[in-house]
Amino acid sequence: MAIKTQSVNGITLSYQERGRGARNVALLHGFPLDSRMWEQQLAALGDAPGGYRVVAPDLRGFGQSRSETPFTIESLADDVHALLSAVGALPTVLVGLSMGGYVALAYAKKYSADLRGLVLVDTKAEGDTTEGKTGRQKMIDLVRKEGSKAVADQMRPKMLAKDAAEQRPQQAQALRRNMESCPPKTIEHALAAMRDRPDRSSELSSIKVPTLVVVGESDAITPPDVAQAMSKKIAGAELVTIRGAGHMSPMEQPEQVNRALRAFLERIR
Ligand code: MLT
Repeated sequence: MAIKTQSVNGITLSYQERGRGARNVALLHGFPLDSRMWEQQLAALGDAPGGYRVVAPDLRGFGQSRSETPFTIESLADDVHALLSAVGALPTVLVGLSMGGYVALAYAKKYSADLRGLVLVDTKAEGDTTEGKTGRQKMIDLVRKEGSKAVADQMRPKMLAKDAAEQRPQQAQALRRNMESCPPKTIEHALAAMRDRPDRSSELSSIKVPTLVVVGESDAITPPDVAQAMSKKIAGAELVTIRGAGHMSPMEQPEQVNRALRAFLERIR
């Protein structure tokens, strides 16, 4: 797995890259994770005969992209566009999970000319409710007082399908390691960025690129009915429900997710 770096927008962003194909695919991770969550998709798409070049960045502050600078969801989209432009990976199909999906929607609005397709995984277009915003503040207080592990402990039960920790302990451990390694400052900045992100529901009807919506059948954070409503607002969007998965469907059921991704990418060729 090639881990590379590229300086853009005043930061050195780290990213994983796989495959040498002519068609670009970028994978945007969720919170509080990094590009490691896409391991199975990097392998499946990077080595696929269809010929893809797959780039999975560590967003600002996450993974190896160390930074203590605050950011917004839109500025993360600016970073992604600048990175892909600098490494010659535009136009691209963007695949975003949860927070990565929020970034993908911001990118779709601002950089539609450099977008070939959109895959929205376990994510939603609505902004935070008042209650949600209060929850973000509580979590900011928690990470300030007790650090990243406390946040990971609080989030973990909602991330995976029921019984996943017993049935697939390696996955649960990989997820826990990924979450606990996220720097506390980044967790704080990301919570503020998600709290303050705009509601993008009214923009869904303006999306003109082929779109696939993917959701775990027992996603407790962005549930299937939310995904279904989102897909209905995007012209021609397809919806795929992943069996036996919660919020982290690409890690939990990689074969089903990879099959859906490959079929979508082949269709929009
Ligand atoms: C994520 O998985 O990225 C987060 O759960 C998204 C959120 O908290 O809104």
